[in-house]
Formats: sequence, structure tokens, C-alpha cells
Amino acid sequence: MAILVVAHEKGGVGKTTLAFNLASFFDGFLPTKIIDLDSNRMFTTLNSFRGYCNLKSFNVVDPTNISEEEFYSILSEYVGANDKLLIVDSGGYDSTDSSRIMGIADFILIPAGNKMVEILALQKYEAVLDRIRSAKKEAGFPDEMPCYVVFNRVHPNTKNYEETDLGRFLLESSHYKLLSSVIKDRSSFNNTLVEGGYTVLEKGSFDAKKEICDLGEEISEILYEKLNGGNDE
Ligand SMILES: Nc1ncnc2c1ncn2[C@@H]1O[C@H](COP(=O)(O)OP(=O)(O)O)[C@@H](O)[C@H]1O
Ligand SMILES: [Mg+2]
Repeated sequence: MAILVVAHEKGGVGKTTLAFNLASFFDGFLPTKIIDLDSNRMFTTLNSFRGYCNLKSFNVVDPTNISEEEFYSILSEYVGANDKLLIVDSGGYDSTDSSRIMGIADFILIPAGNKMVEILALQKYEAVLDRIRSAKKEAGFPDEMPCYVVFNRVHPNTKNYEETDLGRFLLESSHYKLLSSVIKDRSSFNNTLVEGGYTVLEKGSFDAKKEICDLGEEISEILYEKLNGGNDE
């Protein structure tokens, strides 16, 4: 089901946590490959914990272990594909590879919390997205960027997300679309990972599992519509 990039130049927003849990969601029914582009290789480290705990490891490609040719051949195999998914845990804009992948991605997932510093970071990130969009346009591709923000680590008591500072910012933004799924601040997300590379689907609380499943389903629906939308009727 195409290329899903989890991106944001800001660290600590939940890219790896969501990429890892979404890999678990999608891997259940779709061949799923992961590229760990972040220089700290956190996804790869968490994946190696899975081996020690006798859990099935995810299919992670180490971009430093393959040639540039192989790297781009994987991308062209997955872009727009209906029957398999490539999840990219991006380290932000600091590499040419991550901006290129964002340029061809079918879905860009951006986690953000409802804090002023995170809203400012999203605002700053718009310039990066604009640069990638212009490069796409110059190369003759549609200059739209499929950027979807998911609220992550929100306080469990938060209600009416659209009326929060982040919600208001996103509703006015021309760069981001707001997903209706919300991931709350839950110890389950951190505990499962540090316990041995588990995902919340394997060992998390009911609420954390439901949030990941809702997010995975929302992403699937948007991708399905994008990839098959024009062919149905
Ligand atoms: N929804 C959440 N609830 C609780 N902790 C979270 C949640 N999302 C992320 N975290 C924690 O926040 C920290 C940073 O997350 P991480 O996924 O490593 O961010 P990034 O990859 O963007 O740098 C980690 O310790 C992670 O366990
Ligand atoms: Mg990370």
C-alpha cells in the first residue's frame, strides 16, 4: 500500500514510536518493509530487541548497507503500490534521501503535540515542505504534499481537539491536514518499547491498541482512496 513516511525535523515528537507501532499494525495483513533513515537508528535498535525476546523482527532495511541503486529500486517498487507498504522512519530534512523520499511519498505522517513549541516547530517546518514541493514541481511531478498531522502525546483529558491551539493552527494551515485519530500520552507507548521492542498491539493497554488501530485504519482509508479513488465508479 505505497510509501508512508513518518517525518518531522523536530526530535522527540513520536516518529519512531508511531512508525514502530504502525509497522506492527500493517505487517499483520500486508507485506511491510521499513527504512530507518534516522541517524540514531532507534527503529533498528528496537527491532534488534525483538530478536532477544523471541518476537518476529520487522523487515528493516539499513540504508547504509545497500547501494544507492538498490535504495532507489526499493522506492520505485513501493511508490503507489497497492499490495505492500514501505514505512520510512525519517530523521527530518537533514539528508538528501529523506527529502527525496518525502517528495515521492504517498502519505507523510507528522506527529505533533499541543504545545506552543511544537506549533512553532510545525510552522518552521513549512519552509522545508515548500522547498520539497518546489523541487517536485521543477521535476514535473504534482506539487502537492500529502502531509497529515496526528495529535500525539496529548493529555488524556483533552477534548475538542479542533479548539486547541494546535487544532486551530492546523485548520488554518494550507500545509497540513489534520487526522481525526488521536494518540494520547500513555505510559503503554513507552513501556512496551523499552521492555523489549514490543508494540502496543502485542503488550499495550486496550486504549493504546485502539488508538493505533484507529490511526492505521484512517491511514489505510486515505491511501485506498488516493490509489483507487478514480477507478471505482
Ligand atoms: N503517545 C505517547 N505516549 C507516551 N510516550 C510517548 C508517546 N509517543 C512517544 N512517546 C515517548 O516519547 C519519546 C520520544 O519519542 P520518539 O518516538 O523517539 O520520537 P522521535 O522519533 O520523533 O524522536 C520516547 O521516549 C517515546 O517512548
Ligand atoms: Mg526517532
